[in-house]
Amino acid sequence: STQPTVCVIPGDDAMPEVMAPTVALLRRLVPEIRFVEAICGREAQAQYGTPFPDVTREAIDNADCTLFGASGGPSRPILWYLRWHKETFINVRPVRWYPGYNSPLRNPERVDYVIARDNLEGMYPPREGDIAELSTLASSSSWWLPVPTDKAGAYSLKVNTDEQMERVANYACELALQRKAAGYPGKVTLGAKYSIQPKTDGRLRTLVKAAVAAHPGLSYEEYLIDDMARRLVAAPEALDVVLLGNEHGDILADVSSGTIGGLGLSPSGCYGEKYAYFEPVHGSAPDIAGKGIINPTAMILTGGLLLDYLGYNEQAETLAGAVAQVYREGRVLPVDQGGRASTSEFVFAVQDYLPA
Ligand code: NAD
Ligand code: IPM
Ligand code: MN
Repeated sequence: STQPTVCVIPGDDAMPEVMAPTVALLRRLVPEIRFVEAICGREAQAQYGTPFPDVTREAIDNADCTLFGASGGPSRPILWYLRWHKETFINVRPVRWYPGYNSPLRNPERVDYVIARDNLEGMYPPREGDIAELSTLASSSSWWLPVPTDKAGAYSLKVNTDEQMERVANYACELALQRKAAGYPGKVTLGAKYSIQPKTDGRLRTLVKAAVAAHPGLSYEEYLIDDMARRLVAAPEALDVVLLGNEHGDILADVSSGTIGGLGLSPSGCYGEKYAYFEPVHGSAPDIAGKGIINPTAMILTGGLLLDYLGYNEQAETLAGAVAQVYREGRVLPVDQGGRASTSEFVFAVQDYLPA
């Protein structure tokens, strides 16, 4: 049979501490996958004079997909390559509470939805400059719409193409239909600022409504982004697929993560037409690097999403099941979940529930 290749990029700061044991678990579950580790960040800088050497780019290009730790700065160009060069246009961030997760909510039991985040546009990549460059807009300046080119300052651009908004909308609909087949409500909820950004978020709203109409069997809801943020906390059990723009999705995914118990628990996958890569929602956790206490759950579940992508659905389920069992029993909990277990103690506990 075919032997898939996965490029492994450990990432910066605390990330190698969770990447190594995650890959070990994945190897154990699916021995036929070829894992090819690529050098990145400071190590690559020291050895090749660049944080993103050709060997790493080739390892990404030659793999079926990439498992990425987080970048704390040095590995940032690799993240850009995985997003924009590989056109991984949608970032899927599941938000699901399991018994034992240290949620601050009173009733987290039915929290089980996904955020579908635009992974390419909006205010990313940064297009910023000096206010003076906006002088052509100054003629439309008024007291209620100021373009103060006579003052020192800067601007930042939000840019959305119809093409990207359409494929993000379609992806969210297809995902909601898939989930519906598995017993979920089949609902797309848009959170955006269509009230004051009619051309970007208003256009997104129009395109999402059209996409929902073109996918029979789905229901649709929309909320202004500020109210959406409240709903993630006040009524998360009502959500199924939540569609968000790039910067909104970045911020609110961390909020959602907080509602189930924190960043140590939240996986994600970034999908394109020709490539996919997988990274946890959290960053490189520099404040706890080297302490051996970073929670590997987010990285392990991210590995589970990778297995799903490669078609190893049963093994992905086994892995998530083992993690859930460790939390359910509650004897070996990571520090961020109120326990005392080190990263490796937690990983060993998970490993004990995998088939030998
Ligand atoms: P962060 O997510 O790294 O950390 C925020 C807080 O959560 C810290 O207190 C950290 O210790 C804690 N935390 C995160 N993951 C954890 C885990 N698995 N277990 C236990 N605690 C965990 O965010 P930050 O500190 O704002 O950013 C650090 C760096 O990471 C920055 O350079 C940022 O740009 C980068 N970052 C990268 C990515 C990515 O590569 N996709 C994502 C987010 C942030
Ligand atoms: C994330 C991160 C990134 C983002 C940073 C590191 C550019 O916060 O993946 O959530 O903003 O997309
Ligand atoms: Mn983020």
